[in-house]
Amino acid sequence: MPTANVNGTSLYYEDRGRGPALLLLHGFPLSSQSFRPQLDFLSKKYRVIVPDHRGFGKTPAGEAGKPLEMRQIALDAFALLDHLGVKQAVAGGVSMGGYAAMAMLRENAGRVKALLLVDTQPGPDDEAGKRKREENAQAVTRDGMQFLVQTMLPVLIAPAASSQVKREVEKLILENDKLGAAAALRGMAVRPDSKDVLARFAGPAMVVVGEQDALISPEKAKAMADLIRGAQLVKIPGAGHLSNLEAPEAFHRAVEPFLARVP
Ligand code: MLT
Repeated sequence: MPTANVNGTSLYYEDRGRGPALLLLHGFPLSSQSFRPQLDFLSKKYRVIVPDHRGFGKTPAGEAGKPLEMRQIALDAFALLDHLGVKQAVAGGVSMGGYAAMAMLRENAGRVKALLLVDTQPGPDDEAGKRKREENAQAVTRDGMQFLVQTMLPVLIAPAASSQVKREVEKLILENDKLGAAAALRGMAVRPDSKDVLARFAGPAMVVVGEQDALISPEKAKAMADLIRGAQLVKIPGAGHLSNLEAPEAFHRAVEPFLARVP
């Protein structure tokens, strides 16, 4: 089982393929395995590196009660790249993974060769959103991951998603640690506004959004793309919030030409 001892934790990761490095950061409340189609397909041309964040998949949760800040996910990602001898990578992230990719820009944009933001947004939570995060953190601590299956599964994937995708996402959610999920909810609640780092980013960037995303509308994705110089926006027809998993062929058709153009 590949793990890297970084920043005081044992970070599980997948590292598949050869070629330019593509780091993918998963969303909430999933794991590296939500990038299964990309690990299989994009690894034919790229070195696809996918960690499990603390408290997700096979990486143990951090200290009980301590929020998992997006900056920590970013620092763990940099430490993983160091461990693997990778100086610069295309940084991609789905939703919460996108928040963490933006935290990577804030910490050390020089290591981000290009940016791939999928079904995500740059703004912070408002006060009502922060309160909801805390309520959800308490509910998942009390009721377990089933709480997140009930409340999140219907908004993570489009109503027309196949039953196989539905089962796969449910399984990924249930495999996670409830304390890890609570920590990530509290960490997302304190994330900063990342519009400034996007406006400063000078590398190639692509924004992808599922046309049926119930959490990030295509209009919101466009507003984010407009903040980044030269960013390309692609909408994936029929897909919801997990466009990379729900419609992998369309996702790869959009992303491959972008990756091919990264110098
Ligand atoms: C995710 O998909 O990572 C989460 O829905 C993001 C969030 O709750 O803000």
